[in-house]
Amino acid sequence: TRDDRDLLLSRIRDVADYPKPGVMFKDITPLLADPEAFSALTDALAALCEKHGATKVVGLEARGFILAAPAAVRAGVGFIPVRKAGKLPGATLGQAYELEYGTAEIEVHAEDLGAGDRVLVIDDVLATGGTAEASLELIRRAGAQVAGVAVLLELGFLEGRSRLEPSLDGAPLEALVTV
Ligand code: PRP
Ligand code: MG
Repeated sequence: TRDDRDLLLSRIRDVADYPKPGVMFKDITPLLADPEAFSALTDALAALCEKHGATKVVGLEARGFILAAPAAVRAGVGFIPVRKAGKLPGATLGQAYELEYGTAEIEVHAEDLGAGDRVLVIDDVLATGGTAEASLELIRRAGAQVAGVAVLLELGFLEGRSRLEPSLDGAPLEALVTV
């Protein structure tokens, strides 16, 4: 609802010139510290799991974990961590993606996803869309279906939505708040 959206937005703090000059950082820690807002966020994400028929939730390290894990519990589905490369002990699938300077890689345990899974990816922020795009590649390569991507905050001016469109292949991108 509009009230939920306003509550969430009111608990996201703008930090100027972080992590470098000219960047306005969106800090979600005030929202996490407010149990009413964090609970409303968890409810909204869990409702999206149900709406899109997700059977598993993927959270993107690190900030995505904080949102995705309680949403998965509330929705009654499993939580699968997608981690930065080198952190998972088992057999992994990896996917590189571009950062502003250089590249990064994320990984998932290959055995955690497979045919028959419908996966909702949850992260805090959609900026350029590079991280989310890489996660969708992982899910498809694991043989699972993409139920959608859900983020707390979409930075519309960075046009991550249009970048993500081909990888979504018709699946929904849900943003609770867009700025
Ligand atoms: C941030 C944010 C998203 C991603 C969005 O994560 O939490 O995951 O960037 O950017 P993009 O849409 O341009 O890919 P970051 O990699 O900074 O690390 P963290 O979550 O571990 O703090
Ligand atoms: Mg992140």
